[in-house]
Amino acid sequence: MAGINASGADTIGVDAAFTKGIVLQLELIDENATATLAQRMARLPELVDCCIELRGDLGAGKTTFVRHLLRALGVQGRIKSPTYALVELYEVASADGRHFSLWHFDFYRLQSPAEWESAGFRDTFASTGLKLVEWPDKVADLMPNASSVQVLTTDVAIKIEVMTDGSESRKLDFSAHSPRGDAVLKALA
Ligand SMILES: Nc1ncnc2c1ncn2[C@@H]1O[C@H](COP(=O)(O)OP(=O)(O)O)[C@@H](O)[C@H]1O
Ligand SMILES: [Mg+2]
Repeated sequence: MAGINASGADTIGVDAAFTKGIVLQLELIDENATATLAQRMARLPELVDCCIELRGDLGAGKTTFVRHLLRALGVQGRIKSPTYALVELYEVASADGRHFSLWHFDFYRLQSPAEWESAGFRDTFASTGLKLVEWPDKVADLMPNASSVQVLTTDVAIKIEVMTDGSESRKLDFSAHSPRGDAVLKALA
């Protein structure tokens, strides 16, 4: 459903009637468990057109999760972190053989709304494909009156927390922000 938020940004893809999505909590005891989750997600048909926000402090495991997901989708060679470039683009194939674009964003160093516009990110988020977004709050911070969910047309948000016991364990809090997000979380539950 299309809508215009207060900053004037298009929010095509966010269903205005969608208020309360499914939530899910998982504990991943080590990086192997993170890899296993990424492999399960890579098989979901919804991924060919989906936006996933990855939240959490530096070192939580956002990029690590993306790397395992890219590997599970067949990406070979070195996987760069888009810390300076803001985005890396991949062409991948789903389990059922459909080809799609995958954008890995890291907005930690996003400076201004002008940078957002000139890089064409508005168009990217309106395009079909998988968008994996680290530091979504940096986008919302630059666009007053708009939440990251609206600007990025987020389907699923994942908050990753490091356990305080010094282990490799990570607590993941998932929330769905669209019917598609609900479908993803149902498949993972
Ligand atoms: N369960 C786990 N899941 C993901 N990463 C883990 C886990 N346990 C330890 N790690 C380590 O934590 C670090 C996470 O770094 P990174 O993915 O770059 O974080 P972020 O992108 O959130 O800043 C990596 O060195 C990774 O090997
Ligand atoms: Mg990172």
